[in-house]
Amino acid sequence: MPARLLLLIVALAALGCADPGQSPYEIRSRASFQPTLADPPDGGTDFPLNQPITIHFDDPPDPRTVVGLRVDVTSGMTRWFGKLHVDLFDQTVTYQLFDQLRANVGYRLALDPALGGLGGGRLGQPWVLRFRSGNGVVRVPPVEVATPLAEVLPLVLERCAGCHARAPLDLSSEGALRASLVGVASQARPEILRVECGDHARSLVVWKLLGLPIAGPAMPHGDLSRDQARTLARWIDGGCR
Ligand code: HEC
Repeated sequence: MPARLLLLIVALAALGCADPGQSPYEIRSRASFQPTLADPPDGGTDFPLNQPITIHFDDPPDPRTVVGLRVDVTSGMTRWFGKLHVDLFDQTVTYQLFDQLRANVGYRLALDPALGGLGGGRLGQPWVLRFRSGNGVVRVPPVEVATPLAEVLPLVLERCAGCHARAPLDLSSEGALRASLVGVASQARPEILRVECGDHARSLVVWKLLGLPIAGPAMPHGDLSRDQARTLARWIDGGCR
């Protein structure tokens, strides 16, 4: 049997039995969205002055609810500002402060009740974390080297091109992949880009690979593993080079 025909049959069969319950990525819509773990923990002391604050949730955070000043760090009258980063794989929001904390001071971090998860849950009420700084600093890890497209392309050709080989979603070559994904509005959710360079959490393709209901019907994605999906996410985070 010609390979192409075989591929088509396999693809159709996969579509036919697209049981979302089978997907290792499936996350059902949920009403709840709650922090499960924080670093520093509530009541924590001796927090390094330059360490990012990380909060884990029970569902992937929705980056659209994290914009603006949803997270505040206050001590007395002073406010700390920083850069927010959402990681859908770790289900975390990380807050990297622009300035170092002051040594041996108490802090209060408040999450806005509007903060929510991609599964549809909302925090619903203010959530507050109190901690104290120490006087040490941590070594800042070196900036991660961006994953080049060359590392991602073989995965996509193997796992995705069987179903996506023509416009408007052609993943069968490097040029077609860029033209179909980077900066292109999704069909299912036109307000979201398929790939928003620099931010995997705002890229519909990652929602799709994680099987989040918000991205439309569950897609049989050729058994792309979580690590492989993460490789694609790193390429996005690295600026789609
Ligand atoms: C078995 C066939 C199949 C495989 C394999 C597959 N897809 Fe899909 N994909 C579909 C179908 C069908 C749709 C449209 C319906 C839907 O949204 O689920 C789709 C939708 C999409 C969308 C959403 C398009 C939009 O604009 O909303 C993206 C992005 C996507 N696929 C990327 C991928 C990637 C990346 C892979 C490989 C990891 C992949 N697909 C593997 C069948 C497949």
